[in-house]
Amino acid sequence: MVASEAVRAEWGRRVVAEYRSAATTHALVGWLIEVGASPDLVRDGLRVVDDELRHAELSAGVFAAAGGRPSPAIDRATLRPARVEPVEHSIVRACVECFCLGETVAVPLFRRMLAGASEPVAVSTLRRIVADEARHRRFGWELLDHCRDIMPSAVDSVLQAELPRMKAAVFAAYGEGVGDVIPEADRAWGLIAPAEYRAELLRTERGWWARRLPTQPASAQSCR
Ligand SMILES: [Fe+2]
Ligand SMILES: [Fe+2]
Repeated sequence: MVASEAVRAEWGRRVVAEYRSAATTHALVGWLIEVGASPDLVRDGLRVVDDELRHAELSAGVFAAAGGRPSPAIDRATLRPARVEPVEHSIVRACVECFCLGETVAVPLFRRMLAGASEPVAVSTLRRIVADEARHRRFGWELLDHCRDIMPSAVDSVLQAELPRMKAAVFAAYGEGVGDVIPEADRAWGLIAPAEYRAELLRTERGWWARRLPTQPASAQSCR
């Protein structure tokens, strides 16, 4: 099926997003080593880096199959995640922003993209991504639990100061659209309508985020 310009633009954007996820996770793994995290946790993080590189390669394959040329450019400045002191804050920020928020909403979004896709190269790519993202989501929430145990003040501080901004950024990126109709040919290539992004974000906000990302710091919650 002939791909539209919208298909090429979206898969080009996904190539960049997947490669950027690899860069962010790679930085996170370095910070985890810096604080002496367990080898198992570090290996889980390295597996995520490898997955994200594969997602970028596969997405580039869909982009090329859709007629996209040349390869999407990536702004190198966005491949250097901000490091703030102390390192614990950088770990918690990356964990919450990229995994507890980003990867958690990615799971239903990619499932929805896969459900409507029929173009073989898009289907196989989305299948691999869907299979991996649920594990990435689990990695993020397990890491947050670990952070709550070993660096509770950093968790409180980052959640209290930055959670509203982080959620707003996710909604600004994906959740402002209202249109609920896209061409069936675009859906075959794994695109979904803006209103579908918003619906999944709202569902995730009411479910995962409401249950597991309280706006009250953990220390205040325990004082009942
Ligand atoms: Fe990915
Ligand atoms: Fe991921």
